[in-house]
Amino acid sequence: MTKLGVAVIGTGQWGKNHARVYKELASTELLAVCDVNLQRAKSMANQYGVKAYSDSTEMLKNKDIQAVNICTWSTILYQEASKALNAGKHVLVEKPMSTTPEQARQLVKNAKENDLHLTVGFLMRFIPGLQLIRQSVENKKIGELVSVTTKRVSQWPERIGDVGVVKDTAIHDIDVMRYISQQDPISVYAKVGSKRIKKFEDYAQIMLTYKNGETAFIESNWLTPYKTRTIITTGTEAIMRLDYNTQDLSIEEKTQTLQPRLQFQEPLKAELQHFVDCIVNKKKPVVTGEDGVKALEIATAAIESSVKNKAIHLKK
Ligand SMILES: NC(=O)c1ccc[n+]([C@@H]2O[C@H](COP(=O)([O-])OP(=O)(O)OC[C@H]3O[C@@H](n4cnc5c(N)ncnc54)[C@H](O)[C@@H]3O)[C@@H](O)[C@H]2O)c1
Repeated sequence: MTKLGVAVIGTGQWGKNHARVYKELASTELLAVCDVNLQRAKSMANQYGVKAYSDSTEMLKNKDIQAVNICTWSTILYQEASKALNAGKHVLVEKPMSTTPEQARQLVKNAKENDLHLTVGFLMRFIPGLQLIRQSVENKKIGELVSVTTKRVSQWPERIGDVGVVKDTAIHDIDVMRYISQQDPISVYAKVGSKRIKKFEDYAQIMLTYKNGETAFIESNWLTPYKTRTIITTGTEAIMRLDYNTQDLSIEEKTQTLQPRLQFQEPLKAELQHFVDCIVNKKKPVVTGEDGVKALEIATAAIESSVKNKAIHLKK
């Protein structure tokens, strides 16, 4: 089997995991890593026996590199994803994909015009419990969908200094809502603010509404001393609770509580394996570039809603 040649741009906290998973997968060959902090790139390159770069332009000249994962600071994702697409590489760009929805749309256009795969790092979609929630909503195993409540709170990861909690953290749940409901919200109302980090918001309560009356409440912050990541999906017949950290899922029905034993899987591993399968077998990815655009549009509207203190109606 020929392996897909891959590289990672941005070898910080998260890029490290991308590189490790690519080394673990049988279908990929990690060829190079790049970081503006050359020491950091070199330390990872030495660990894996690959080439280190501090400038992605040089690295992208390597024709054996077919796919590139972009794990830089959030405000640099667009720049590096554009460079990789322009160099003819398939791209997995981390969330939030870019700074503005316009830039995100530009990436989608670029990938389409060059017939390249573009996917975004919404890895919650690769957690089996969430996949079961989506199925249960779709086939009405929980009755009619009524509401969803998500909580994604922790202390501030201090290395994140270029975006606030909405585009960094709540955006996962915004995407999760699109994934499980298979529809877009019609409006967003949010309150965001800053208690500790003055430059960006460090807490956000976001409410999404849907055309048939369903609602979603998204709570995110970087103020809570411990890490909680949960989703509660309420239907007319049952409630499904998922803890993303443990991947434990429970289904509460009128007369019983079920706890399906789903195989634990590392979401990042499933995500990268899927990305490779899509490239090799020319399949549409579970997370498309358009999904990235939509999530960023909603996240941007949430911040606007808070500034204007009113609900923002979302365009179709
Ligand atoms: N999908 C997820 O669940 C998830 C989880 C964590 C982080 N992320 C995303 O991954 C990205 C990185 O996060 P992190 O926690 O690793 O941050 P980090 O600060 O630890 O790492 C970012 C790295 O990018 C490097 N960098 C910046 N500009 C560069 C450029 N032009 N070329 C090469 N390298 C460059 C920095 O030197 C740094 O080493 C962020 O966009 C974040 O939102 C996603």
